Amino acid sequence: MKILVTGGAGFIGSHIVDAYIEAGHRVIVVDDLSTGNPKNLNQEADFYLMDICSKEIYKLIELEKPEVINHQAAQISVPLSTRDPYFDAHVNILGTINILKAALKSGVRRFIFSSTGGAVYGNSGGEIFTEDSPENPESPYALSKLSSEGYIKLLSMGKFSYAILRYANVYGPRQIPHGEAGVVAIFSIGFIEEKPITIYTYDDMERGMVRDYVFVKDVAKANLLATLRDDNLQLNISTGEGTDTLSLLEKLMEVSGKKIPYNFAPPRPGDIRYSIISPERAKEKLGWVPETNLKEGLRTTFQYFLNRA
Ligand SMILES: NC(=O)c1ccc[n+]([C@@H]2O[C@H](COP(=O)([O-])OP(=O)(O)OC[C@H]3O[C@@H](n4cnc5c(N)ncnc54)[C@H](O)[C@@H]3O)[C@@H](O)[C@H]2O)c1
Repeated sequence: MKILVTGGAGFIGSHIVDAYIEAGHRVIVVDDLSTGNPKNLNQEADFYLMDICSKEIYKLIELEKPEVINHQAAQISVPLSTRDPYFDAHVNILGTINILKAALKSGVRRFIFSSTGGAVYGNSGGEIFTEDSPENPESPYALSKLSSEGYIKLLSMGKFSYAILRYANVYGPRQIPHGEAGVVAIFSIGFIEEKPITIYTYDDMERGMVRDYVFVKDVAKANLLATLRDDNLQLNISTGEGTDTLSLLEKLMEVSGKKIPYNFAPPRPGDIRYSIISPERAKEKLGWVPETNLKEGLRTTFQYFLNRA
């Protein structure tokens, strides 16, 4: 199958590209390298340095006629989205509409979209969100992702099928330290450079905010499985397990064999307290389960940053 991956030089996108190529698919990557890294690019993929908001993407998609578009490219920073909601909406909403229009014109069969379970459901009181939980975006980033989901459903109607994958907090090798779950990358670098670590939290959450950490290779596998389907899907890609920031730090201390000082600071705008998301529907629809436990994933991630240092 010929698959076009936007954001394929980024953290998650590059692992998806690797999974597609390993499965024997032909891959075209579009990325403007704003946060992506050319070193992440799979050598067997064709690469186009291109902005998803540009007109050139039309010509490219018309020329290449991919069967599937997997849209990963985005502005991913929640704090940046609160500082500059215009830029966030420009890349995340208008960029997505641009890709959708090109997909409609070129006769794409399937559209895969990376959305965010970590943000669209908003803050939980400790309960586990399912796909039926109400959406409650609390940042421009969450809102731009939710709007994009709406445009995909509306514009695709009868023309192509879609899979909207709502990731929890993804972590793993190649992560840049300022995304949604950049905390694992930030902490790993902190351990290696022996710099004190800051845990952002609310006064009444002594062990830090709670997140659902899912390993990037498991996320790539979910994308691969979703690509092979033809039905419209909206699925959480998560573990269903919550980890507070201090426990995450303690696990990293274990796997790295290092101890490091840490301090607490108030939350940043848009920071949500609890985010735990059920993967049950992905299991039912795709036969997907997260295979990597947190300790194993943290060990692999820490080793990656250590080798890179
Ligand atoms: N990291 C997480 O925990 C997480 C959680 C939920 C959803 N997501 C979503 O997953 C996707 C991938 O995120 P990531 O963590 O790998 O981030 P990333 O920054 O590593 O990847 C984004 C990629 O998109 C590219 N890009 C950005 N703007 C572009 C533009 N205008 N034109 C072309 N390319 C552009 C970047 O250069 C980068 O390679 C994003 O859509 C993000 O919103 C991530």
